[in-house]
Amino acid sequence: MTTTARAHTNIALIKYWGKRNANLILPYTSSVSLTLDDFYTDTTVAFDSDLTADTFVLDGNPQPAPKVSAFLDLVRAQAKLNQFARVTSVNHVPTAAGLASSASAYAALALAASRDAGLSLSSLELSRLARRGSGSASRSIFGGLAIWHRGEDDLTSFAEALPETRLPLRMVVVMVDAGPKPVSSRQLMANTVATSPYFSAWVENNEQAAGEMVNALATADFTRVGELTEQSSARMHAAIFASAPAFTYFQPATLQVWHAVQTMRAQGIPAYATMDAGPNVKILTLAPAVEAVKAALPEFQDRLLVAGPGPATKVLEEAR
Ligand code: ADP
Ligand code: DP6
Ligand code: CO
Repeated sequence: MTTTARAHTNIALIKYWGKRNANLILPYTSSVSLTLDDFYTDTTVAFDSDLTADTFVLDGNPQPAPKVSAFLDLVRAQAKLNQFARVTSVNHVPTAAGLASSASAYAALALAASRDAGLSLSSLELSRLARRGSGSASRSIFGGLAIWHRGEDDLTSFAEALPETRLPLRMVVVMVDAGPKPVSSRQLMANTVATSPYFSAWVENNEQAAGEMVNALATADFTRVGELTEQSSARMHAAIFASAPAFTYFQPATLQVWHAVQTMRAQGIPAYATMDAGPNVKILTLAPAVEAVKAALPEFQDRLLVAGPGPATKVLEEAR
């Protein structure tokens, strides 16, 4: 069998930052995200009894595959399958740039590999599986808005779709630097947990913010959605900055965009900034304000992308 799946990236409005259990990828807090239409990963998996090892090709380049193999081990164990697999993947999103390539990557791999191994998993089961590859991938199983419940253990930590909001949400992505990040999210996350004196404050505040975000989305209160989004990101980056050694993903242009967003709001444009583990800024806004947001970033005209809500992870092709 050969199975191809497509998964879209998601950007967290309420961030996930910190693992309680690194092996199972259980997070300290719940998180809330928007899956995006314009960024995605296509992954093809073929389990084959003739192979003597897993192979992995990303964007045409053969790669060492320890993480992919460890993930396939979970699928093999679940399916009671004893074969290696050929994995081919194409990212329609910059890899490791803080635009959530690991989210679309492991959501696509979870669906393609589990199906190819003969499993028929529910969305909840797929979300739990994708979580083991990359935490943020648990949310990319779903289209639109999703919440990843932090849960208590492997069985109870999964994402699910939130009701569709009436708000026409858009993300204007400002590509400050599409290159790979200097430090992986995984490594920096562990260091923040271990050394940031602000980490416990982050956890307490962010868990509460996740609950408030669900309410703000349900009541279509964009101002509150935006405030909570910007605060979750700013507080995450504050906790990171306070780690030892001190570190920040911010680049000079990153800060320039944050200031531009503050100016937009002062002018009445509904716009809020959010950043992940990288220097790129995503501006959360509403469809009617997209052109005003773009016009307020004259220095970045050739580095703007506009994304809207994207679909759930799906199988593109299955062949015998
Ligand atoms: P990002 O901000 O892009 O999510 P991460 O540091 O979280 O960055 O994850 C990047 C890592 O995810 C890459 O180094 C690679 O190991 C893995 N990855 C990215 N794309 C794929 C893919 N299509 N298939 C498998 N693994 C991938
Ligand atoms: C800042 O899901 O990439 O984007 O679980 O170690 O693979 P691992 O980390 P990852 O971390 C994402 C962090 C974030 C916030 C978020 O997406 O919620
Ligand atoms: Co990631």
